[in-house]
Amino acid sequence: MQPLRPTLGKLLANTFITKVHQRSGSSAAAKLGVHPQQRRVAVSRARLQRHLELTWLQGSSSSFPLTWLRDNCQCPKCFHPDSKSRTVDWATCDITIKPKEVQVSDDGKTVIVDWLDAHSSRYSAEWLHSRRFEEDARKKWLSTYKQEKEIWQSAEETEFPRKRFSFEGVMSDDGQLLQWMLELERFGVAVLEGAGCDDERTVRKLADRVAFIRRTHYGEEFSVKSKMEPSNVAYTGQALQLHTDLPYYEYKPGVNMLHCLVQAEGEGGENQLVDSLRVAGQLKQSHPEFYKALSTIPVDWTDEGVEEGRPFRSLYRAPVICEDSTGKVFRVNYSQPQRDSHFSVPVEQVETWYLALKQFTQLMLRADNRVEYKVKPGEILSFDNLRICHGRSGYTPAVNQIYERHIVGAYLDWDEIRCRIRVLSQREQ
Ligand code: OGA
Ligand code: ZN
Ligand code: ZN
Repeated sequence: MQPLRPTLGKLLANTFITKVHQRSGSSAAAKLGVHPQQRRVAVSRARLQRHLELTWLQGSSSSFPLTWLRDNCQCPKCFHPDSKSRTVDWATCDITIKPKEVQVSDDGKTVIVDWLDAHSSRYSAEWLHSRRFEEDARKKWLSTYKQEKEIWQSAEETEFPRKRFSFEGVMSDDGQLLQWMLELERFGVAVLEGAGCDDERTVRKLADRVAFIRRTHYGEEFSVKSKMEPSNVAYTGQALQLHTDLPYYEYKPGVNMLHCLVQAEGEGGENQLVDSLRVAGQLKQSHPEFYKALSTIPVDWTDEGVEEGRPFRSLYRAPVICEDSTGKVFRVNYSQPQRDSHFSVPVEQVETWYLALKQFTQLMLRADNRVEYKVKPGEILSFDNLRICHGRSGYTPAVNQIYERHIVGAYLDWDEIRCRIRVLSQREQ
């Protein structure tokens, strides 16, 4: 082993060189060591005191904060390997600790840090490389977090459904299951076909194939058909205005699966679908003040009733357009029937908010923003409930109950879908 100093920096072993080259596309060889240039830069002195600089074989260097290194020591005292969990005692851990000595193993595959408190940490070069703080490494890591969404083109140009998946294929083949989930995450909508039309438990089977069904106060699977004393306007033949389901849940179910067992005969029963990300983008451009109103003024989303003898009264306050801390839209809430008449905001905000909602609605109804699809018996229409607004045109409930339009719905959560995507993607590599 040799100290990790500029003149003593070690070449990484060939096995690792290959991996680094594959990842970076670079063919230049370099060393793992403290970069000589870095030590001469006066302004980085303070930084250097709290950072360890490593130079990789292909010539680039990376800076690792000492506190991060100490926090992420991989020894059995600090990290429990079976549960893959950090166990460093944060109450007693000295976050200003400095290394007494830093070394790199002869094969260049391991960095060893001996700390002043006599603790010793070992990090594999590969492990460190994938945790670099440089933007390219962070981007790569973030792609395993969530996929970039593809905002829809004009509805007239968007072929719909863009992709059809075989239900049997998704149920039996991990690759096809993965492709369906990736399409749902990227594009927001995917249709499965060949799901049959006589088993009301089909959506449950699909949910179980991903992870598990998301229960709500309407149950696990729910039957959408015209009912006596309906607890929801969906359970009538009336048209359903564009909406997202369940905006009154803080943890709003992420994906809807609508399995068509019987479709309305003749006219009616079609679903309309709108990419709210596309429409939110248009509103931001054309009416920034309305966008601001819809993305900042909280709305009281509500649902009240009795289902299977259990009374419910749900309430959640959130804007129509919810942005994350980076300004990206991560959730849209939109539902006429489920917006409370209590609107607990200062009175001067109310009229502006209504104007903004009207504009947003008009944009959603524009022909180039809306696709229509009449789901066929045996198909499952699946879509992102945080993103896609959906509606249904009215139909005449059948006189003969056997031919009544019948959709069985169920939900899945994005946490579970993304978890499954990560596991399956890793296996595919
Ligand atoms: C719903 C709904 C769609 C349909 O129940 O919320 O959107 O096609 N149903 O009936
Ligand atoms: Zn340790
Ligand atoms: Zn709905």
